[in-house]
Amino acid sequence: MKEKRSIIIDTDPGIDDAVAIGIALFSEKLDVKLITTVAGNVGIDIVTNNALKLLRFFGKDVPVAKGCAAALIEPREDASQVHGASGMDGYDFDPPKTELLLKEHAVNAMYRTIMENSEKTTLVPIGPLTNIAILLKLYPEVKEKIDEIVLMGGTLNRGNKGVMSEFNIALDPEAAKIVFSSKLKIVMAGLDVGLKALILPEVSEKVKTLNKTGDMFYALFKKYRGGSFQTGLKMYDSCAIAYLLKPEMYKLTETFVGIELNGSMTRGATLVDLRNYLKEEPNATVCEDIDAEMFKSWFIESVSSCI
Ligand code: BDR
Ligand code: CA
Repeated sequence: MKEKRSIIIDTDPGIDDAVAIGIALFSEKLDVKLITTVAGNVGIDIVTNNALKLLRFFGKDVPVAKGCAAALIEPREDASQVHGASGMDGYDFDPPKTELLLKEHAVNAMYRTIMENSEKTTLVPIGPLTNIAILLKLYPEVKEKIDEIVLMGGTLNRGNKGVMSEFNIALDPEAAKIVFSSKLKIVMAGLDVGLKALILPEVSEKVKTLNKTGDMFYALFKKYRGGSFQTGLKMYDSCAIAYLLKPEMYKLTETFVGIELNGSMTRGATLVDLRNYLKEEPNATVCEDIDAEMFKSWFIESVSSCI
């Protein structure tokens, strides 16, 4: 059997982050070496505690390192209106497993973990890209040991933070620019597929009956405002994990993705140049479409592999 693929999840839990983390931790194909946190859905101390609460819940001893509290340039807003003030409203978690918290900053922990690994590591950012951008600038030598970056962020169409900008990119456009200009292999699972990877009530009800994890996810889903429980909840961050585990569910296109920094109304937009107007070399593989039925079956199967 092929060895497990080494990944680092950079995250801001966040209800859809919690689901993505759970699926990754119980996948037979992934070895989660490290979880790093970044301010995004809520503040840095809360998201870090949330990651540690999830690890206690799942019974997994993965090290956690706390990352950046703010974007490279601008002060940041949060998304507590979507995930609740706690970032994971709806479930009464046991206290965070603080013994898993490293003393190192997320950027240093990522650097060390990547360099110590005999295999190449895949980075899976599912929050704003601040930590990843600093890692690439501070330690450019890591690039040789990064397999690819599979991220949730961006949009081919309209946004969910601005008219044309997606939340993770809009919160730190400069960081996104650094990452998309890095020449590393990048896979972008953006809003477009997230909007189709919907969890409808019948799936939520099914998930609830599967196991303790499904029961916890159901409680979070009842509070999650990323979509609606009745018409479909958006599992954005699981789309990045789904790419790692079942890429055949996606229609993929290699193209250039530009990050808008200066637009007075479009800052943080991802210009996915499908028609090559900008005459730039491709810098990303973009998930253009997803087979929603395949995602649904994959999702149920993945949750049933959890505890
Ligand atoms: C992204 O924003 C956050 O609210 C979600 O966790 C996801 O990573 C979707 O735009
Ligand atoms: Ca997220």
